[in-house]
Amino acid sequence: MVAGISGPRQQRGSTVSVRVPLGRRKEKMARRIFTALGLLAVASVAPSIAAGDKIHLSVDVSKPGPTINRNIFGQFAENLGHGLYEGIWVGPDSPIPNTRGIRKDVVSALRHLKVPNVRWPGGCFADQYHWRKGIGPREKRPATVNSAWGDVIDTNAFGTDEFMDFMQQIGSTPYVSINIGSGTPEEAAEWLEYMTAAAPTALAKERAANGHPEPYKVGFLGVGNESWDCGGAMTPDYYVSLMKVYSRFVLNMNPAQRDKDQMLKIAVGPGTPDTEWTEAVMKAWKKHTWAWDINGLSLHWYTVPNGWPPSTKSAKFGLDDYVKSLKSTLFMDEFLRKQETVMDQYDPGKKVTLTVDEWGIWHAPLAGSNPAFLVQQNSLRDAILAALNLNIFARHADRVRMANIAQMINVLQAMILTDKDKMVLTPTYHIYKMYTPFQDSTLVPVAFDAGSYTHGNVTLPQVDAIAAKSADGKLLVAITNLDAEKPATIDAHIEGMAAKSATAETLTAAAVDGVNTFDAPNTVVPKPVAVKVQNGEISLAVGPGSVTVVSIEQ
Ligand code: AHR
Repeated sequence: MVAGISGPRQQRGSTVSVRVPLGRRKEKMARRIFTALGLLAVASVAPSIAAGDKIHLSVDVSKPGPTINRNIFGQFAENLGHGLYEGIWVGPDSPIPNTRGIRKDVVSALRHLKVPNVRWPGGCFADQYHWRKGIGPREKRPATVNSAWGDVIDTNAFGTDEFMDFMQQIGSTPYVSINIGSGTPEEAAEWLEYMTAAAPTALAKERAANGHPEPYKVGFLGVGNESWDCGGAMTPDYYVSLMKVYSRFVLNMNPAQRDKDQMLKIAVGPGTPDTEWTEAVMKAWKKHTWAWDINGLSLHWYTVPNGWPPSTKSAKFGLDDYVKSLKSTLFMDEFLRKQETVMDQYDPGKKVTLTVDEWGIWHAPLAGSNPAFLVQQNSLRDAILAALNLNIFARHADRVRMANIAQMINVLQAMILTDKDKMVLTPTYHIYKMYTPFQDSTLVPVAFDAGSYTHGNVTLPQVDAIAAKSADGKLLVAITNLDAEKPATIDAHIEGMAAKSATAETLTAAAVDGVNTFDAPNTVVPKPVAVKVQNGEISLAVGPGSVTVVSIEQ
């Protein structure tokens, strides 16, 4: 229920105010030189870039960095509003084309994204979910109340086997969040046994009777969700004790995951930039014994430009909102650094992944929608913001090896919006599609003077960029022009590779509040853009407010 979460949200929003005062941040921003491997140096004040001025990128392919783990392109599908019901599940008897109750149009669209993993069933909902209510013949499943999100009736039609079917249909890996708030270790252990046991145990036989003799693979296990808030308002120490117990007893029994493909356990991490929670978990982890372990620490951070409760408009907004949103989202970098500093203290070998398993922009609910369903439009601004966050994750690739945008369909910063039989792909979907070649690519350094873009009293870098070598040997460069008012001309010098040919596509629109609707689904879609290759250098023009991905071959 939205009313139920407004308290903690207020508290979280207030953390934004601990940021560096705007004047100082503006100055700092103008003095930065960025590289794809992080902030390189503090240089002299960046020259202000006039319309179409050149931004020079220096890409060095001979100095490969860490892998950009494909799992940073993960998704989050909570039992919330129309995220699962209607967005994915319509039931086998629906007139909407479906495979065993799962929408065909949605599956086909998601397959193009090569979604590496999907977090389910929550979110806050996870700590109220009792898995047994969602298995067996659907007509016999009990109706329950989704008290996390709007007190609506939950038919439990979309349960474990339906989720696993969905995973198989889109070709993704399950990331299951267990209930440690209102459940028990026994309940969670039995759920894992139901999903993963190959031996003929009673639970494996039950799964087989439900139509699935083969054990499922569970790639990731979330040990609770926001346990400091909706997950049970726990103290860090209380959570750590509980986490050890769940880590010890909730076991993946799939023989195919014993040696290779082992299930990674993700502990609850921070939702505010302070480091108390991270300290507690990492300190415990350093002393972990054979009996328990975790492989990841979750981090949740939403872009809420005006603080909680979210009040920005998701459509029909102006440049003031645009620059404020981007400014606010860039804080992700600082947030990650803070947590990484603590993690490095206890885990210099970077064994524990920082898993940003909830992130994205959270706007005011769309007029006329149920406020508990978190429905919002999705604009070019949100797509640009997604690109900036993915770039940040890529720069932190040595520690951030997994992330999940909130959420997949019809909720918050969604990939897809549906209305009965209609479906539309959002600008954020297109960013994910354009970035698919970055999955499991190798980060390479790109140095550039970002320039600056000032609107009102907000100053942003004009340009952001990352570069990577894809698995099939192509050099990829993603360029975001944050400046909504001016184009930029990019030229890139490439060290360590003789560029012979290049292609590029760009996502932009007439205005940064451009959206795709059911009636006009192609307002914000990627389009090819000309790119010149000469003497090993590439050059191209990028439009105001745009994201461009260039693919270069030698
Ligand atoms: O994504 C919506 C909610 O935001 C999730 O359920 C919760 O974990 C977070 O507070």
